[in-house]
Amino acid sequence: MKHLLKLGDLGREEILTILNLADQLKYERKNGVFHPYLQGKKLGMIFQKSSTRTRVSFEAGMYELGGCALFLSNRDLQIGRGEPVEDTARVLSRYLDGLMIRTFAQQEVEDFARFGSIPVINGLTDYCHPCQVLADLMTIREVKGSFRGLKLCFVGDGNNMANSLLVGAVRMGMRFSIACPAGYEPDADLVAWGKENGDVTVTQDVGEAAEGADVLYTDVWASMGQEEEKARRVKAFAGYQINGTLMKAAKKDAMVLHCLPAHRGEEITADVFEAHAGEIFEEAENRLHAQKAVMCKLMK
Ligand code: CP
Ligand code: NVA
Repeated sequence: MKHLLKLGDLGREEILTILNLADQLKYERKNGVFHPYLQGKKLGMIFQKSSTRTRVSFEAGMYELGGCALFLSNRDLQIGRGEPVEDTARVLSRYLDGLMIRTFAQQEVEDFARFGSIPVINGLTDYCHPCQVLADLMTIREVKGSFRGLKLCFVGDGNNMANSLLVGAVRMGMRFSIACPAGYEPDADLVAWGKENGDVTVTQDVGEAAEGADVLYTDVWASMGQEEEKARRVKAFAGYQINGTLMKAAKKDAMVLHCLPAHRGEEITADVFEAHAGEIFEEAENRLHAQKAVMCKLMK
């Protein structure tokens, strides 16, 4: 494993290795045990979009591993003024031991990996969000014990989250269903891959998608960069909501997960959110542990 550019880069065994290390790091941290696995190492973090969880969990995680993290805003870097990725990647590779990037185009993350000589971690693109899904898988396994026989249902936009969740579910042997309005399906190639390699259903019917689900997942209707489409999306996604009625279609002990930030009253109702806040905030915490494991695997 040289980079984490998308979840599909990892095989089932590699994902399990990361999850096992993440569990161990979480347990040790609870007991006040910290290993300086990345002593003296430096992670650059390029952000072309906002972030709360990704920024803070990577920065705190690097500190806990004995290294340090540099927050690099697009607004301050020369890249924001047109310096090419191929130059930026080669320069940063001379100073740093790893690079996390949050941006729009997946190609940009791929280019950083291609032109640089240090591990690159995708901290979200329009296409996918692998770090989030590693934390999601960790949370599901914590609560359910294993992935065997589980059904994961995503309600809403076939966006970066849906794409990575589809891949994560298929890799771990879970059934995956998504309910989304026509025109908002996940990436067509990923759906085709998922249908060939696992059990993937794409439907416009929320009740059908949620039927018997063990995990219900949702995300905002308008992602970062889609602010101008907000009004159109609010109309298109009406009904694509995790609420009390939909919960009845899922299993009685179904979990509810949300990558956050959440928009109560849109993709999820406030009552369902609060009833599952324990799981949702554990999921947010698990970003820290899962990413520490990823950094150890890539940068140690
Ligand atoms: N879930 C997630 O990636 O959150 P941030 O946008 O706050 O980093
Ligand atoms: N789909 C959302 C996820 C945020 C973590 C976005 O891209 O804005």
